[in-house]
Amino acid sequence: MPAPKSRIAHLRHEIEDHDRRYYVEARPSVSDAEYDALFRELRELEAAHPDLVAPDSPTQRVGGKPSTGFKQVRHAAPMLSLDNIFAKEDPKKPTTTGISGLRHFAHSVHESVPGEPLEWLVEPKVDGVAMSLRYERGAFTTGATRGDGETGDDITANLKTIRAIPLHLPKAPAILEVRGEVFMTAEGFRRVCDELVAAGDEPFANARNSAAGSLKQLDPAAVAKRPLHFIAYGLGEIDGDTPATQSDTLEWLKSLGFPTHRWTKLCHSTDELMAAIEELDRVRDSFGFETDGAVIKLNNVALRERVGYHSRAPKWAKAWKYVAEQAETKLRDITVQVGRTGVLTPVAELEPVFLRGSTISRATLHNEDEIMRKDIRVGDTVIIEKAGEVIPAVVRVVIEKRPPHAEPFDFAAHLGGKCPACGHAIRRHPEFAVWVCENPACPAQKTRRLEYFAKRGALDLEGLGGIVADKLVERGLVSEPLDVFDLTLDPLAALNLGTDDEPRVFGEKNARKLLEAVERARTLPLARWLHALAIPEIGEETAHDLAAHHDDLDSVASSELLRDVLALDRAREAKEKDEADAIGQRLIDAGFAKSSIKAKATPRDAVVVVGPVAACAALDWFASKPGRDVLQRFHQLGIEPKGRPRVKGGHPFAGKTLVLTGTLERMSRGEAQELVRAVGGNVSSGVSKKTDFVVAGPGAGSKLADAQKLGVRVLNEVEFFEML
Ligand code: IVH
Repeated sequence: MPAPKSRIAHLRHEIEDHDRRYYVEARPSVSDAEYDALFRELRELEAAHPDLVAPDSPTQRVGGKPSTGFKQVRHAAPMLSLDNIFAKEDPKKPTTTGISGLRHFAHSVHESVPGEPLEWLVEPKVDGVAMSLRYERGAFTTGATRGDGETGDDITANLKTIRAIPLHLPKAPAILEVRGEVFMTAEGFRRVCDELVAAGDEPFANARNSAAGSLKQLDPAAVAKRPLHFIAYGLGEIDGDTPATQSDTLEWLKSLGFPTHRWTKLCHSTDELMAAIEELDRVRDSFGFETDGAVIKLNNVALRERVGYHSRAPKWAKAWKYVAEQAETKLRDITVQVGRTGVLTPVAELEPVFLRGSTISRATLHNEDEIMRKDIRVGDTVIIEKAGEVIPAVVRVVIEKRPPHAEPFDFAAHLGGKCPACGHAIRRHPEFAVWVCENPACPAQKTRRLEYFAKRGALDLEGLGGIVADKLVERGLVSEPLDVFDLTLDPLAALNLGTDDEPRVFGEKNARKLLEAVERARTLPLARWLHALAIPEIGEETAHDLAAHHDDLDSVASSELLRDVLALDRAREAKEKDEADAIGQRLIDAGFAKSSIKAKATPRDAVVVVGPVAACAALDWFASKPGRDVLQRFHQLGIEPKGRPRVKGGHPFAGKTLVLTGTLERMSRGEAQELVRAVGGNVSSGVSKKTDFVVAGPGAGSKLADAQKLGVRVLNEVEFFEML
């Protein structure tokens, strides 16, 4: 018998090797039973020799204890999203649909790197959950969800249970962040649903939700039972050289031990791109997992930095979304949902039909005019479609199948002129094609506001959706969202989610979990709170922009910056050029606007971070009675969400144009570029008279010479970081 130490090392190596063959190469070389036997032997040996247990042993994948919640981690490099090009050509949207959208994209990249030959890599867009895996000195240290792109949930213990994720990388640089997607195969999804149904639980709606829901569990042992996979497609922070191209990156990731897409295509023209996208559409059903599009990436990594980024997506990549899948079914009824602002949305109640991975029994009908335009009647046979994560919609009626007595739909008559939730009179909004319930005390509106408050991306109060929100409002435990901070254990645990005849209580365990989530929410950053408050015109993105420039809620409520945005708009309208220039410059200096890149641009042409419509809506809301009440509640509750002002007293780079050249030692050029943009500066690729600073690292060449010729101020790396 070999010594236990060497046998353990051998077994670990064997198991890792089998994992790699199975997940990376898809060529398993042993049966499940043989694999299990190796695993058992290892576990027994480790049990007999606890001093030989290592954290990265395959037996430690389910080592973590159930946690009470996830810590937040800040991503070393932001996790970006992708802008879409929708396959279905829409002449009104030539830049974001169809082949014209594709051409527009390729052309705009061409323009930002003139003269460079462009090469693209097309990859499948797997429909799962984006993940960042951090390895330090080869050991898997942290795995996190995307969250808001800057901060995500630390779900390391859950991710360690996924065998496709290597626990250690013998050949990795000291720091390596791998970006990819956790997903569930179609077969795994079916199995999970069967098990849930057998246990009397609700199945997940689709494989994506199933993967996301599995990862959200607090007990890693429960996560380990879910058939989760991982596929790597990119890099975050890395200590060392980044591969020169996307294809090299994928090759390298594979050589390190990560599963990567087996289907990718290198393309050199829009025609080749189109052909690759079409080919992927033909083969993707055979992958065994859901894909909802193709990702098109500029292959050359150095060029990417010159093409740049906007808001939270790169300009050098796009997601091509395939045409929505359609199905035919019967419209059983039209019901009406009350939204958080009182808007009444008609909903199609359908005969359930299976469509690309999920069963659909409801679809949106948008509004009354849409129903009229499509002449949709109860009893009709309709075509429905589903595109990605979008709510399914009714596309058209199959007129030939209309039953003889189907009546045209009359919205107000259908509702008897009353809100279906509270019985209050309804009114058609004069400007928009919508009917609204104007009763602010309408319980349905309260429920929707509560759900919005609790949703992911807002306060993420897991367990406070659907029926729970309904019942909290119905039983009077919550009226306004902030009332959740007054909830206590006993009444919450006793909350009846069923009926008086058939009661079903929320339960102590769920109540505790929810109260913990509520407690955690107190310290969430300002951006999440601004989003959660559902202020008109302030969506997730604007909430982040506001939070990046304000300290707290009070400073948004009385924001000089927002007032300046309105003043700039007014001065521009009134053609008061000097006034507009002065305000524009003030906003640029404060980092709340960027200088326009138009030729002969003046400060009044500044491009504001938050536009006048949103600025006006935010100021109005905070000045209104409900807004003031909310602020007061925050003070009473002692909740003080903090913003992350990027600019204090005018950053030296705000509104300035910088050129980065040569190598930087402390971080990549891409990261430096992000930081400059975060303080309101612009980074451009060529040196001109308009350049304010050239940051020259070792190896700087012609750009440094240009700067010296034009008298542009040159900074070395140390000076640059000090100013930053
Ligand atoms: S790259 C900078 N590649 O799509 C680009 N994303 O809409 C960042 N996704 O959050 C993403 N397959 O969850 C990339 N091959 C792929 C992908 C992929 C799926 C997801 C990912 C991302 C989302 C963006």
